Amino acid sequence: MIVRELPDGSALVIAQEDHADVAAQFAAHWGNDRFAALTPFKPAVFGTIYHDSGHREMEADLPIDVERGLPYGIGGTPPELRKRDADSNNARWIQNRDPYASLLVSVHHAGLRKRRYGTVRRRSNAARAAANDGQPLGMDAAFEDLEDWQRQSAEQLGLNDPKARADFWHNYQMLQVFDLLSLYLCWDGYDGDRLVEDTVERVPVAAGSDELTEIKLEPTGPRSVRMSPYPLDVAPMSIATMARPITPRQDASELEGQEAYYRAPRTPLVWEFAD
Ligand SMILES: [Fe+2]
Repeated sequence: MIVRELPDGSALVIAQEDHADVAAQFAAHWGNDRFAALTPFKPAVFGTIYHDSGHREMEADLPIDVERGLPYGIGGTPPELRKRDADSNNARWIQNRDPYASLLVSVHHAGLRKRRYGTVRRRSNAARAAANDGQPLGMDAAFEDLEDWQRQSAEQLGLNDPKARADFWHNYQMLQVFDLLSLYLCWDGYDGDRLVEDTVERVPVAAGSDELTEIKLEPTGPRSVRMSPYPLDVAPMSIATMARPITPRQDASELEGQEAYYRAPRTPLVWEFAD
């Protein structure tokens, strides 16, 4: 769950799968003269759509932070409420439909514990991202971390071939770009209720190339952002999701907090990206 608190004391709550769908909208339209599109396209987009579906296990329980009167959100959920097996169960669910997508999602989640293997980051939290605790980073480190069944899957997918491996690593890095862009919009790209300027660093331009670039995000209105260089295949492009505005009630019970979430009006959030 993504919980963004607003200056007026209310909060906008976005389900994790809706955050993932925002990421997937970028994925589906990524690529133009300057940036390579995803290859293979469908598995990479499919993985982006379901990359956080492990959160469904916890969202179904809908644990409420009764002190704040809101559902627990990412970054603030007590460890004992997390569902330990949810991410690997989700990877197996994806595996039955698309083994390539499953591997991408598995590497993504392993990477979240290792600063995304030192790849893509947002400048606004570069200091945090830079502190990698001495962990080995990069593609080889990511493949080292695979579990046996994932390593077998990688072999079956032909990822021992250098070209296929380079494509896979490009897709992994791109999933980080889409995830960070979505988090910027859904969660932490704001000062109060205004989007702030930021830069996505270390964005790869094509598979098999060492060239990395920066994409500047420059708000031009309450819900519009200029991206430069512009990476999408259509301009302007609308990205949208549904949020639930909730005005928290202090001293409400957990059940009352859950009822407030169920009753909250669904409110569309639409952002426009342009070059
Ligand atoms: Fe995510």
